[in-house]
Amino acid sequence: MKYLKIIGQKKLSGEIRISGAKNAALPLLASTILSKNTINIGNMPDVVDTNTFLKLLNNLGSAGKRDQNTIRVNTLNINETKATYDIVKTMRASILVLGPLLTRFGYCEVSLPGGCAIGQRPVDLHLKALEAMGAIIEIKNGYIEARCQEGLKGADIVFDKVTVGGTENTIMAAALAKGTTRIINAAKEPEIVQLCEVLKEAGLDIKGIGSSEITIIGTNRKLLEFKDFDIIPDRIEAGTYLCAGAIANAKLKITHIMPNHLSAVISKLEEMNFEIIKEKTSLTILPTTSIKPVNIITSEYPGFPTDMQAQFMALATQGEGTSTIDERLFENRYMHVSELVRMGADIHLNGNIASIHGKKGNLSATDVMATDLRASSALVLAALVAKGETNIHRIYHLDRGYEDLEGKLKRIGADVSRHNE
Ligand code: EPZ
Repeated sequence: MKYLKIIGQKKLSGEIRISGAKNAALPLLASTILSKNTINIGNMPDVVDTNTFLKLLNNLGSAGKRDQNTIRVNTLNINETKATYDIVKTMRASILVLGPLLTRFGYCEVSLPGGCAIGQRPVDLHLKALEAMGAIIEIKNGYIEARCQEGLKGADIVFDKVTVGGTENTIMAAALAKGTTRIINAAKEPEIVQLCEVLKEAGLDIKGIGSSEITIIGTNRKLLEFKDFDIIPDRIEAGTYLCAGAIANAKLKITHIMPNHLSAVISKLEEMNFEIIKEKTSLTILPTTSIKPVNIITSEYPGFPTDMQAQFMALATQGEGTSTIDERLFENRYMHVSELVRMGADIHLNGNIASIHGKKGNLSATDVMATDLRASSALVLAALVAKGETNIHRIYHLDRGYEDLEGKLKRIGADVSRHNE
């Protein structure tokens, strides 16, 4: 296993180029199951999760290959409709093949994703939506068995709560269904907007893109002709590096992004007394005299993203005063708190509310443990300003969603190196 060694308090400055969005790439790779042609997908982040998804598609019989940041894939010869435990246990997002496999083949089996570090994360809303479209679903031996030999039928789907994955699975299922599907209380994340736009480009009749009500007229099992496309920039990776600039009080330019995807993040950084220069495809954060405390409540897009919660907690440890964070999406997304406290942070938890009593320069280096993707990025941020040498263990969590993190940090002056345990 590998760990990351970071020598803190280095002067940082420069530019960071942002990669394609992991959380757009995964549903888009799943959607290729709906296609009848070869597709070249550019700006594909080279991270563990996208490579795992490619492996999953190839296990099903697809012909997929990566060439640097492009994946070329053809799913016409899929001959297997079972997503096995060995893959699903490494990546919950494998559940995103459920909708496309079922709507195309009328039968599939997907290992039921277990809980993860940040919460139980049930998939009941995914299953309920597919049942409303006529699927027969059983849970057998740890697998979701879904069948609808006659094909799925369009239906009105009202989600009890906003779910990103549930919305994505339902959109893909509805694409080859018979008739019209209306998804009400749909998620509105930019990653879902790109999924809808790619399907629209492929000839699907889809309306309400980006709104909470999406209407799809299915093709009645006719496969779609996809156009080649590039993955949108990763707004969470961009937000993470904006926080790196903030915590290190550095002037940092984040490029190859869509700034309007980061409105909630930018407004919280401005509340914390940072000035941010906005340009068409870049954001530049400037050093500040003092970091102000902030109150954050996580919510669905366009609200403040839960995937930025940990990074802002690390930043708030350097604020002049008490910040609060109210995590509303996941019941167990504070695994980073105890590790930040080990570095000297003053954080108190009361249920899903964290109070961070900030004090500039109070972090000291030590050995810490990564527990999930975003928690590990918060530890990297803390290590950038901690006095001394921090070792972050279990960095496989980071590799799942951050492309070339060491290289990007080194290019702005950080002292980061990867070592074997
Ligand atoms: C997506 O997860 C992202 N993952 C997550 O990013 C992100 O944190 C999350 O959306 C929220 O923005 C990917 O896109 C691959 P949800 P997803 O369904 O789809 C509950 C990262 O760091 N729920 O919107 O799994 C659920 O438990 C990852 O990159 C049900 O109760 O999230 C949660 O409390 C972590 N039943 C809430 O809804 C369901 O059937 C939101 O989950 C589905 C969800």
